[in-house]
Amino acid sequence: MQARVLVVASGKGGTGKSTVAVFAAQALAQKGKKVLVIELAEQLRNVDCIAGVSEQTVFDVSDWLSGRCASDKAMVQSPWCENLFIMSAPYAYAALELEALPQKIQQLLEQFDFIVIDTPTGICPCFQKACEVGELVLLVLTPDQMTLRAGRAMTEWIYEKNCNTKVRLVLNRVRQTGAKLDLDGCIDTVAAQLIAVIGESRQIFSSLVQQQPLPVKSEVWKAFENLASRICGQEVPLLFC
Ligand SMILES: Nc1ncnc2c1ncn2[C@@H]1O[C@H](COP(=O)(O)OP(=O)(O)O)[C@@H](O)[C@H]1O
Ligand SMILES: [Mg+2]
Repeated sequence: MQARVLVVASGKGGTGKSTVAVFAAQALAQKGKKVLVIELAEQLRNVDCIAGVSEQTVFDVSDWLSGRCASDKAMVQSPWCENLFIMSAPYAYAALELEALPQKIQQLLEQFDFIVIDTPTGICPCFQKACEVGELVLLVLTPDQMTLRAGRAMTEWIYEKNCNTKVRLVLNRVRQTGAKLDLDGCIDTVAAQLIAVIGESRQIFSSLVQQQPLPVKSEVWKAFENLASRICGQEVPLLFC
């Protein structure tokens, strides 16, 4: 096994990075892949809540990076799926020893099929470090001009600094308003290929409130299953759910 490392990012906050990181990981895990989600942030963790492991988290990513605990202590197995694991950000502020990240990730590659790194907003030190080890950046953006432009700043940074890292656009919280979404305009603004379109979804809201996985029969699940298939290199049509 040699994990592929995905970096989830955006130029603006609240676009759904953590939500997409967790549910994309659920979809990959339900395809039989062994997946680790790492929330790479110095505080304000929320991946643990989304993934339903908030009560089980003792050690976190700062403990792992600084060598205070082994990787298996810092990760928690998801109650949703036996091959899905979560490593949380610290609960209170803790400076991360980011220099250690590439080597620490290297040590985990043989244990997983995918390592999904959820990063804080913008071209921050966590994002920059994650790009050193990431094969693919998933830019999670909402389809409004300000967010897309902030996304463009991210792609420009990636194209300048990281020739080996691919970038794909995940359009999230897309509303069906009757007005046709200008997908080509979004792609042109961000300058990245589209990999998924995820609708504004009440099911996401209720799964988050209950800390439950997305039901596989829900409409929005299809969008995540589709995203997972495309990440795995399968040619499936883009769905809009
Ligand atoms: N597709 C969606 N449909 C409905 N709500 C969503 C969707 N994606 C994200 N959200 C909501 O948006 C809010 C911000 O999401 P979050 O994943 O925490 O964003 P970020 O990590 O980018 O700051 C959360 O309340 C989440 O429930
Ligand atoms: Mg987040």
